[in-house]
Amino acid sequence: MRVLITGITGFVGGHLTEFLATESYQIYGTYLDPFNLKNLSPSQQKATFYPCDLTQPEAIEAIVKVVQPDEVYHLAGMSHVQKSWSLRETTLKVNLFGTLNLLESLRKFAPFARTLMVSSGEVYGNVPLDLQPISENSPLRPLTPYAASKASLELLCHPYIYGDKLHIVIVRPFNHTGPRQDPSFVCSDFAKQIAEIERGLREPRIYVGNLDARRDFSDVRDVVRGYQMIMKKGQAGEIYNIASGKAYAIGELLDILLSLSPTKIQISPDPNRIRPSDIRLLLGDNTKIRRQIGWEPQIPIQDTLRDILSYWRERI
Ligand code: GDD
Repeated sequence: MRVLITGITGFVGGHLTEFLATESYQIYGTYLDPFNLKNLSPSQQKATFYPCDLTQPEAIEAIVKVVQPDEVYHLAGMSHVQKSWSLRETTLKVNLFGTLNLLESLRKFAPFARTLMVSSGEVYGNVPLDLQPISENSPLRPLTPYAASKASLELLCHPYIYGDKLHIVIVRPFNHTGPRQDPSFVCSDFAKQIAEIERGLREPRIYVGNLDARRDFSDVRDVVRGYQMIMKKGQAGEIYNIASGKAYAIGELLDILLSLSPTKIQISPDPNRIRPSDIRLLLGDNTKIRRQIGWEPQIPIQDTLRDILSYWRERI
């Protein structure tokens, strides 16, 4: 089984590679930044890596032609909601036109590949409280350039699914975190600050943004397991939420992390961390993936946060 992972050296790509490496897959992956090839775990190193800027059609075309994948996990993309406000063009170029280039390559050179397209729970926008948890049937109301790029990606897939008959399944992951996540994302950000404080590298004060936002967090290791299950069992054209079905205020996650540290730490609001628009509550309905795919989350958030903090304590 030949698997192609776009964005293989990213946070999710790394965890997916480790997960798939436990089975007999030949894993190939594309990466953009050679820096990310450092610090790969032994199981990640078994994969074959190709440099590839997805916005260059000939780059991905050459790789699809050579690899002839049976399965494609499309993870590459601009994943940062906040940064998408200042990187609107890049966000669209990578998430939409990069996906177009991948789809064209698949249509021409690997039309029988099964493909998992990664969208986001952000596409639902601010859903009224009485309509939460959010099911896959909720309308798309993207509020950020990032969410708009993911909603566009989903629509772009339609002609390839219904016209060209490619086997594409779309997944909408809600928030996910775990060891190795970039510290620009909230759990990793807080855990890194705590580890730096414990080492005496900064004063005992943690800087935070909007602690009232409520999000549905899964462990990345549960999410990549879900991706593989959807790859195996998902129907072409179907859309699946991946969500824990539980929402936590960001302040509650901060409290859990702080409770794991022996150091007394002050909390300081930082206006630069407040976003132009921030969804109040994003809570996913995971009924469909439970019933049709048989996935359910296994790792409690407390364990995830402990592992993230351990990761930063080892690194700093
Ligand atoms: N980064 C950060 N830093 N976020 C903070 C902070 C802080 O100091 N304080 C509060 N927050 C809040 C943000 O305002 C947001 O409401 C929430 O924490 C989560 O932020 P992120 O971890 O940066 O994730 P995100 O929700 O913007 O996006 C993630 O989830 C999406 C799915 O819901 C990303 O993983 C996306 O790629 C993914 O699609």
